[in-house]
This record gives sequence, structure tokens and C-alpha cells, in this order.
Amino acid sequence: MEGIEYSSPKKSIEDGELPQHRFDLVVNGEKIGAAEIDYVSKPLPMYQVTDLYVDFEHKGKGYASQIMDQVENWIRERKKPGILVDAILEGDPAQGMYARRGWKEVPGGLGLHVYNWPDKIDLGILEGYGAR
Ligand SMILES: CC(C)(COP(=O)(O)OP(=O)(O)OC[C@H]1O[C@@H](n2cnc3c(N)ncnc32)[C@H](O)[C@@H]1OP(=O)(O)O)[C@@H](O)C(=O)NCCC(=O)NCCS
Repeated sequence: MEGIEYSSPKKSIEDGELPQHRFDLVVNGEKIGAAEIDYVSKPLPMYQVTDLYVDFEHKGKGYASQIMDQVENWIRERKKPGILVDAILEGDPAQGMYARRGWKEVPGGLGLHVYNWPDKIDLGILEGYGAR
């Protein structure tokens, strides 16, 4: 396998991992990055992206952007919003990548960002949302 591969929660369980949707990035036969997604039902059905990473020695080659391209396509196809906490450290060259990619910051200063959010729903319903 080479590239980014999606696996379902069912497959994750079979692999002995948590039941999450997973995007694994494999280069030269080695897993060097990933993103994981949990389904969340409240306050509305959405997908929470957790643990985006690319191994340090492969930073800055566009791999995180490639993973997020797939994650965002997947979220749009499923016609539900995405949610994440922007935890990229201050000073990291990738800082601000979510905002540049169209993720909207939720007021409140917690770093919460949403994607594909329905216009008719007020972001206020996320008040007190406990990101895992
Ligand atoms: C943050 C992290 C995922 C970025 O991975 P990456 O593969 O280096 O990122 P990319 O090369 O795809 O770059 C992402 C963005 O940063 C920019 N960027 C990256 N390195 C850059 C550099 N040296 N100079 C300028 N811009 C740079 C890219 O241009 C891209 O910007 P864009 O969104 O406008 O296209 C990775 O460094 C990491 O795993 N960090 C530790 C864990 C972490 O912080 N995860 C995020 C939790 S929310």
C-alpha cells in the first residue's frame, strides 16, 4: 500500500484499535502519518477529526494537506459537518492551515473549528462542546 488509505471503524476493531474512521498515510511501506475521525451525535450529527499528524522527518512536504484533502472530501460526501480542535503549536510553519483550508473558528477561544457547517444552524449550539 502506498498513499492514503481509509479504513472503517469495523476494520479498526479488527486491527485491535479504537473503533474510528482512519486515514493512514503510507510512504515506502511505512506509516508516516494519519488522521482519525469519530462520529459524534450531539449536539448534532457530525464528524470529529482527531490526531492529525505527519512524522517529524516528513514535515513540510504537503502530506498533512493531502490527508486533509481526503478527510474534507469524505466529510462533504457524507453531508455532515466536521469539527476539530486546532492544536498546531504557535510558530509551527503549518500554523493556520485549518483556517486557510476553510475551517471556521468557533467563537470562544478554545481552538474549535468547523467545516461544512450548515448556514441555518447557529454555532452557539456548540457552547460547552467537550472535544475529546
Ligand atoms: C502539523 C502537521 C500535521 C503538519 O504536517 P505537514 O505534513 O508538515 O504539513 P504540510 O506540509 O501539508 O503543510 C501544511 C500547511 O503548512 C504550510 N507549511 C508547512 N511547512 C511550511 C514551511 N516550512 N514554510 C511555510 N509554510 C509551510 C503549508 O504550505 C501548508 O499550508 P496550506 O494549508 O496553506 O497549504 C505536522 O507538523 C505534525 O504532525 N505536527 C505535530 C502534531 C500536530 O500538531 N498535529 C495537529 C493537531 S491539530
